[in-house]
Amino acid sequence: MDLIFLGPPGAGKGTQARWIIEEFKTPQISTGDIIRAAIRDNTPLGAEFKSYTDAGKLVPDDLVNRMVDDRLKRDDCQGGFLLDGFPRTVAQAEALDGMLAKAGRKLNHVLLLEVDDAVLVERITGRRSDPDTGNVYHIKFNPPPADIADRLVQRSDDTEDVLRQRLDEYHSKTAPLIPFYEGKGYLRRIEGVGTPEDIRDRLFGVLKG
Ligand code: AP5
Ligand code: MG
Repeated sequence: MDLIFLGPPGAGKGTQARWIIEEFKTPQISTGDIIRAAIRDNTPLGAEFKSYTDAGKLVPDDLVNRMVDDRLKRDDCQGGFLLDGFPRTVAQAEALDGMLAKAGRKLNHVLLLEVDDAVLVERITGRRSDPDTGNVYHIKFNPPPADIADRLVQRSDDTEDVLRQRLDEYHSKTAPLIPFYEGKGYLRRIEGVGTPEDIRDRLFGVLKG
């Protein structure tokens, strides 16, 4: 299946992606993860990316589009993919339409995780990640095992101030994708509040229905 995860920062896209990729055997393509890896590895684009992510701003469309175009051509995407965090602007969505048309492919679903802004602040400021395994925890909602707590890290954009900017970007630039995909008949709305397992079951209901 060719899938897109849409939703604000902290909606649970990364958390839910883990279950979807396991169940449907498709790769998760998280543009945020690819961008953070470039920053960590000090690639030529890494420093430029960091100036955007640390300010809570979207990276320019042409840079992200090229990254996704390259990634979707790889062998592991030929049977399907789960895009997490892309597209995030109408220009990116139009570029993706072009990539898929060229490859003779069509989207199956755009999964929108709906969560109110008030809930997102607590989710984002409490998130911690394990650099060794990539596992994501939350200090209150999904506490890490005590023996790994010391090595966990917090994303540099996971402060309340930067989150406000990320939410502004989401509402002004990404939310227009909701009517864009609704008009094409791909949009599936999923209530993103409840336990992660409840939300997984709702998603599986849509994907297996
Ligand atoms: P990106 O990495 O994509 O971040 P994001 O969209 O802001 O989303 P997050 O990863 O913060 O949230 P999530 O929905 O994955 O939530 P998670 O499951 O971790 O992008 C980062 C930056 O990169 C952007 O700001 C931009 O600069 C750049 N970028 C990326 N893509 C781009 C693009 N296409 N174009 C331009 N720029 C781009 O959950 C969050 C927390 O909540 C965790 O602690 C988790 O344990 C907890 N949690 C999850 N589910 C629940 C639940 N049901 N109940 C309670 N807690 C929960
Ligand atoms: Mg994420």
